[in-house]
Amino acid sequence: MRGPSTRHDVRADQGPRRRCQNAIDGCPPQHISDTLPSLTRSSMDRDTAKQAAAEAAAQLVRDGMCVGLGSGSTTAYALEFLGRRIQAEDLDVQGVPTSFATERRARTHGIPLTSLDDTPSLDLALDGADEVDDAFRLIKGAGGAHAREKVVAHQADRFVVLVDPTKEVSRLGTQFPVPVEVLPMAATPVMNALDAAGATPTLRTADAKDGPVVTDQGLWIIDARFPDGIENPDALNRRLCDRPGVLDHGLFLDMATDVLVGRPDESVDHRSAS
Ligand code: 5RP
Repeated sequence: MRGPSTRHDVRADQGPRRRCQNAIDGCPPQHISDTLPSLTRSSMDRDTAKQAAAEAAAQLVRDGMCVGLGSGSTTAYALEFLGRRIQAEDLDVQGVPTSFATERRARTHGIPLTSLDDTPSLDLALDGADEVDDAFRLIKGAGGAHAREKVVAHQADRFVVLVDPTKEVSRLGTQFPVPVEVLPMAATPVMNALDAAGATPTLRTADAKDGPVVTDQGLWIIDARFPDGIENPDALNRRLCDRPGVLDHGLFLDMATDVLVGRPDESVDHRSAS
C-alpha cells in the first residue's frame, strides 16, 4: 500500500497573489473581514487553504502533459490557476474532465480537452477529496463524480489530491458517508446490504429537483454513513465491488501518490507516497 514518505513544505512564495477571481465559495473583500462572525472567517480560512493547495497542484503541470481534471470546489480553483498558466506560459497541455461540471469549467478557463479514447495514459491527475487518512486512503464523491474520477485517476502516473485541513482524518468515514453509485433498480437491495454491513444508507436527493440525484451516468447515489467510521476499508471496498448493481463507490484505496494540504496561512504541506 502506498503511504506517506516524504513531506515538503512548498510554502507559496508568490506573495499576496491568489484570490481566484471566480472563487466558488466567494471571498468577501479583506476590509470587511474583521467584522465577520467566526463561522464566516473559518470558511474564508478554508477557502484560502483550498486555493493554496490548488495553486501548488497547478504548478506541478509541465509543458506537454495530459492531465486528469477532477471535480469539486478545490479542483475548480486548480483549473483556474492552470488556465492562467496555459495562457501566460503558452503551455501545450490537455485535460480529461471527470464530470460535466469540470468539462464546462475547463472550457471557461481555456484548458484544451481530450478523452481517454484519444489519450488513455495520463501524466497526472489532480483532484480533491472529502476525507484523507494517514495512509493516503480517501473518501470521495460528495459531488457525485467519484466513478469517473476513479477511472481517470487510475489512468494517471501520478494522482495528486488537493485538500484543506478539514479533510484530514485518522479514520475514514468519521466525517463523510461513502457514496455508492447504483443502478436505480438495484437501490433497495444495495441499501439492505449496506444496512447489514453496519451502515446507515440514504438515497441522495437533489436540492433543486424533486427526487434522487441523477449522476452524469444517469444512475443514483446511496450515501452510506458509518456511525463509528470504517473499521476495515479494504473489506468494505471488496464487498461493494462484488455487489451487483453497484457501478462504483467513493473509497479510493492505494491510489493517491501525493497529497497537498493547503493551510489558512497559505503554506502547503506536500506529502509524497513511497
Ligand atoms: C466530487 C469529489 C470532490 O473532489 C470532493 O467532494 C471534494 O470536493 P471539494 O473540493 O469541493 O471539497 O470527490 O465527486
